[in-house]
Amino acid sequence: MATLQAICADITTLPLDAIVNAANSSLLGGGGVDGAIHRAAGRQLVEECRRLNGCKTGQAKLTAAYALPCRHVIHTVGPVWQDGRHGEPQLLAACYRNSLLLAHTHALKSIAFPGISTGVYRFPKDEAARIAVDSVRMTLQECPGIETITFCCFSDQDLTFYQNLL
Ligand code: AR6
Repeated sequence: MATLQAICADITTLPLDAIVNAANSSLLGGGGVDGAIHRAAGRQLVEECRRLNGCKTGQAKLTAAYALPCRHVIHTVGPVWQDGRHGEPQLLAACYRNSLLLAHTHALKSIAFPGISTGVYRFPKDEAARIAVDSVRMTLQECPGIETITFCCFSDQDLTFYQNLL
């Protein structure tokens, strides 16, 4: 069974098989963690992303990582929070699930996730953390090769939500 851990870090510094990007459906970059990943990876990342024809909410696509210390970037598109009754929880769970299934397909063993949808997309952070951990735990049962999952938080408060769940 894989190890699940939570840390507080800038996800762009992690030398893992893959880091997950909380992108938008254009996959052409933006602010937040998406902006940080594109800045650290360099221009080649947006050039590869341009050839992917976007990504639907809840789905995931894989690219190289260029100047980042990780090997791949998995781009997923989280839901914009409205009121929780527009499928947001299911779509957020799908982001974690489809990212892991893609990692498994490419035989990746160490993957870090940011708090998808918890910034500009305003998903409540405590509920998002619960959905993230539940979806990862469920999906890992289908992904025997995956060894480590890192929930990469960006504040001590976010870290506390994950520590209480793990
Ligand atoms: N490392 C780890 N986590 C980070 C980093 C970082 N370097 N930077 C921010 N976070 P957000 P979303 C955390 O807004 O809500 C973009 O413009 C941050 O504290 O990046 O899914 C895209 O292009 C928060 O907890 O993503 C989309 O348009 C979490 O990452 C839109 O924002 C996610 O915040 C996506 O919004």
